[in-house]
Amino acid sequence: MAHYRVTAMRMLREIGGIRDGVCIDIGCGPGDLDIELAKRSHFKIIGLDINPDHKPLFEKKAREAGLQDRLSFVQGDAQKLPFPDHFADAIVSRGTLTFIPDIGQCLKEVHRVLKPTGVAFLGGRYLYAPQPERITNEKLKEIVRATGLPNAEVIETMGQWVKIVGPRPPGRPRVGARPLHARRADRGGPLAGDGPMPAAPRGRRRSGTGPAAGLRRV
Ligand SMILES: C[S@@+](CC[C@H](N)C(=O)[O-])C[C@H]1O[C@@H](n2cnc3c(N)ncnc32)[C@H](O)[C@@H]1O
Repeated sequence: MAHYRVTAMRMLREIGGIRDGVCIDIGCGPGDLDIELAKRSHFKIIGLDINPDHKPLFEKKAREAGLQDRLSFVQGDAQKLPFPDHFADAIVSRGTLTFIPDIGQCLKEVHRVLKPTGVAFLGGRYLYAPQPERITNEKLKEIVRATGLPNAEVIETMGQWVKIVGPRPPGRPRVGARPLHARRADRGGPLAGDGPMPAAPRGRRRSGTGPAAGLRRV
């Protein structure tokens, strides 16, 4: 679905140059986002969801996309992640944060599981979320502040997101020094098999993306 593709590309831009290693998707549901992330990266993606009923469809979609070797489903609670400390290179989540009873506890868990070089980007647009699940940006900021986590911030651009940057995020790779397929992945664009990619505009690079970009905005 188109909006998963757009969200995956946004997430990849927000997490900077990270494209390898382990990426966890919290509240993955049937895994549509994970397919789009996998197509545009080299990640091994773990979809975590509290509802085990999503597992069969998640695995079917992964198989149909030929991505079963890189996508796996784990049943678990976002408030008590079943992973060791400093395990994940990236953690993402779409449309789930506001369903979690203790969002602050989830964010602390994300910080615990994230590698020092990692970046997490969690949230969504909640356009269709039922009213009781919506929270204001102010409330979310309050929750984030109360966690005391360093380098955690609410981003209000195109939705409501929380970004957590590890203490040692990688810089963006030098684009000119990398082969075309890697450059496409750097931008969150398609890898092989995902159709043609429009040429990047020449001149100045866009600002406002990359691992620490959101943190400069406040
Ligand atoms: C609105 S769906 C979003 C699914 C998927 N991320 C997507 O964008 O299609 C929210 C998902 O969060 C999961 N969820 C809710 N609370 C959770 C929790 N505490 N831990 C893990 N997953 C949870 C639900 O089971 C559901 O699959």
